[in-house]
Amino acid sequence: MSAKPLPGFRDFYPAELAERAHVMRVWREVARRYGFVEYDGPPLEPLDLYTRKSGDEIVGQLYNFVDKGDRPVALRPEMTPTFARMVAARANALRKPVRWFSMPQLFRYERQQKGRLREHFQLNVDMVGEADVTADAELLAVAIDMLRGLGLTQHDVRARVSDRRLLAALLARVGVTEAQLPAAYQAIDKVERDPRTVLVERLAGAGVGGDVAERLLDLARLWSVDELRATHGDDAAVSEALDRFARYQAHLTALGVHEWVVLDLTIVRGLAYYTGIVFELFDARGEFRAICGGGRYDTLLKALGDVDLPALGFGMGDVVLGELLRARGLMPSLAPTLDYWLAVEDAELLPVAQSTASLLRRLGHAVEYPLREQALNKQLKAAVNAGAREAVILRREALAGRGEVLVRALSDGQESAHQLGAWLEARIAEAGGAHGVSPA
Ligand code: HAM
Repeated sequence: MSAKPLPGFRDFYPAELAERAHVMRVWREVARRYGFVEYDGPPLEPLDLYTRKSGDEIVGQLYNFVDKGDRPVALRPEMTPTFARMVAARANALRKPVRWFSMPQLFRYERQQKGRLREHFQLNVDMVGEADVTADAELLAVAIDMLRGLGLTQHDVRARVSDRRLLAALLARVGVTEAQLPAAYQAIDKVERDPRTVLVERLAGAGVGGDVAERLLDLARLWSVDELRATHGDDAAVSEALDRFARYQAHLTALGVHEWVVLDLTIVRGLAYYTGIVFELFDARGEFRAICGGGRYDTLLKALGDVDLPALGFGMGDVVLGELLRARGLMPSLAPTLDYWLAVEDAELLPVAQSTASLLRRLGHAVEYPLREQALNKQLKAAVNAGAREAVILRREALAGRGEVLVRALSDGQESAHQLGAWLEARIAEAGGAHGVSPA
């Protein structure tokens, strides 16, 4: 038997699961603040849910097989098609705008590298039913607030934002034809990675002439809306897209997240279904891969469920985010914590420890006691190792009916002696009443 999980898959030991739980707790809490409700779907889906709309890259990474009923199926590589299908199926009954979130585990057979595994947990936050850029601003704000909730600031993370309609209008203006758009998008997407000469060659291969190629690659630098307006604003389609983008920026300012955001036309997004504003979040130093990506996909519900509703959303994975939080010292070390460790001076006191533990647990405390006979000093060591706040030593006199306990705070070693009954009464009072619990 292999001692390791498959390449690209993780074991989550308790400390690692605690980190994942910390991130998910913040995701869930911030989603709630924005009025998003949680949903889930099946981890296994019909293969054609992805082949129809997701784009070649993700389809090439599918874990797919034919099931015992001869159905071509795939483990979900992303949540968006499932989300679109679910919403489309009940489109009329759902309150609009739909604000849903989910935290699925996703599977992609990709080349394993830093920040990329073959499974990851991905927060998905999506909205349906609002075409205005107010929704795009709300969506980016919730993503940024989640990072804030995890302790990151605008100095740690950049939200790089573009608009496919703006880019299409600009590309048309510099001479790119409709048929050349996919090649142009691909070249712009690769501007940071590949040398310019390689890109020009590749574009030439797709029939884009040298002049047009140079001008389109010039678009791939940081622009301000004003600068773009001054150079390309006389084009009606560009001007309309810039007006929309300026309104988007105004909403981001009002929502208090504009300091995180830059306009970056190199953000194209690999997935095929995006139609409008798109964005990716990166660490500001450029050390890691994308933390988060998303955008508007106004035609996907029509393609998958035959309902015409605008939609937008993003995915934020746990892998890169975890790397960044650890690198910045923002991942809390989550040692297991226990409220009380009940130690016994004598093995005959075990039933007293058990009934005491039972009562304390009913009051909501986390409690352990020794499961077999052990020297007291060993028990106290176990209490420290378990991260217990207090050790409660049940003393031998209890056997004589005097019920004495010694409570030792494990942070500073302070001790106090009590009658067991009185100490338990105090715990019940602390918990705000008896809740049907009595110390007897
Ligand atoms: P995506 O850009 O493919 O978008 O993934 C979103 C995020 O998930 C990435 O930025 C990255 O943090 C994480 N991620 C993706 N693949 C992996 C991997 N193999 N290993 C680790 N982390 C990964 C989507 O999936 C869209 N469906 C998001 C979306 C939701 N768009 C609209 N709604």
